[in-house]
Amino acid sequence: MKKFSVRTRVYSGVGSLEYLSRFKNRKVWIVCDEFLASSTMFERLQGLLSDNEVTVYSNITSDPDITVIAKGIESLWAAKPNIIIGFGGGSAIDAAKAIRFIIERNESLNLDCCIAIPTTSGTGSEVTSATVISDNKRGIKYPIFHPDIFPDIAILDPELVLTVPPHITANTGMDVLTHAIEAYVSSESNEFSDALAEKAVWNVFQYLEGAFKNSECIVRRTKMHNASSMAGMAFSQAGLGLNHAIAHQLGGQFKLPHGLSNAILLPHVIRHNAKDAKTRKRYAKLAKHCLIASKSTNDITATNQLILHINQLARKLKINMSLRRHGISESALRQKLPDIIAATHNDSTIATNPAPTNDNDIKRILEAAL
Ligand SMILES: NC(=O)c1ccc[n+]([C@@H]2O[C@H](COP(=O)([O-])OP(=O)(O)OC[C@H]3O[C@@H](n4cnc5c(N)ncnc54)[C@H](O)[C@@H]3O)[C@@H](O)[C@H]2O)c1
Ligand SMILES: [Zn+2]
Repeated sequence: MKKFSVRTRVYSGVGSLEYLSRFKNRKVWIVCDEFLASSTMFERLQGLLSDNEVTVYSNITSDPDITVIAKGIESLWAAKPNIIIGFGGGSAIDAAKAIRFIIERNESLNLDCCIAIPTTSGTGSEVTSATVISDNKRGIKYPIFHPDIFPDIAILDPELVLTVPPHITANTGMDVLTHAIEAYVSSESNEFSDALAEKAVWNVFQYLEGAFKNSECIVRRTKMHNASSMAGMAFSQAGLGLNHAIAHQLGGQFKLPHGLSNAILLPHVIRHNAKDAKTRKRYAKLAKHCLIASKSTNDITATNQLILHINQLARKLKINMSLRRHGISESALRQKLPDIIAATHNDSTIATNPAPTNDNDIKRILEAAL
């Protein structure tokens, strides 16, 4: 038996932020980072919420650390809100979701709703049951999955991503691609998650390069914003895999941005997983669905064409696909390797990877990515 449940109500399209104007006389607590708090987008948000009492917790940093979450819990207690809004990239939304989840484990919050408003097109966190919290002292990122973590409402307004700079558009876009591909080959994939994953991969291959080159194109931004949520819905149901399990370690140990870690690993993880014939068939099917490979191509060739296509896309997005070029030396990697391998096996996302993986496989993937 397979399960698929949709928890988050999604409002999408240009102007969907206006949804917020229906709230009156509520206590609203907004979680974001300093950059977003001082942006014109935030002014717009506040304008729409002007009939409410608004408090802001703007201490969020990229890959939020447990100390940021602990301070957020204090801030939320002081605000006693009816509405929580996570406003920003995956980091701000994850923090809002984690704070709400931790408190609601123990106390009743009297909440009307928790709203996620993404300003990057990447993590899909606005529709997922996941939150990723870092322990910076130990260099570990903890992905937590739980049905109570889903936001109640997601607002996908593409106007909010028009200001995302090209390198973040590239990295976060490759995160979307990784979510969709991992969900598609996951051991828990099903026809519903496949449909969302296929569409997300299609949108990335069609529109990411254009959104990167022409950042103000609302059509391409909309396609990528929707793809991000579709990939999030897919992996929330089907799970992720080895790519994310290793990427979390690169983020935890070396502070490599999440989407960039995923992008660099993706060709190597596909090559590893494709040793399994059933998984190779899935990659080949996806390549054919996206018209990267022709219908008559055999699975090995179609999978290689998928890998080639990903590498070509990365080049067009000016992503350097080598860990060394991002400051991770061979000696630093070797020194951390035992910890990285152990933590990769412990990372919850590896559970749905379709192919078996041992210590040597992880070592080989990282060496290939160097
Ligand atoms: N919960 C999930 O389902 C899930 C899935 C994947 C990743 N994650 C986590 O999400 C985090 C990464 O999120 P992210 O990739 O969105 O990055 P992020 O939230 O860390 O943001 C990256 C940078 O982009 C800036 N930014 C955000 N919106 C902007 C805008 N509109 N214009 C200009 N700059 C903007 C931010 O200020 C920040 O400096 C990681 O911690 C990762 O592990 C969570
Ligand atoms: Zn991700």
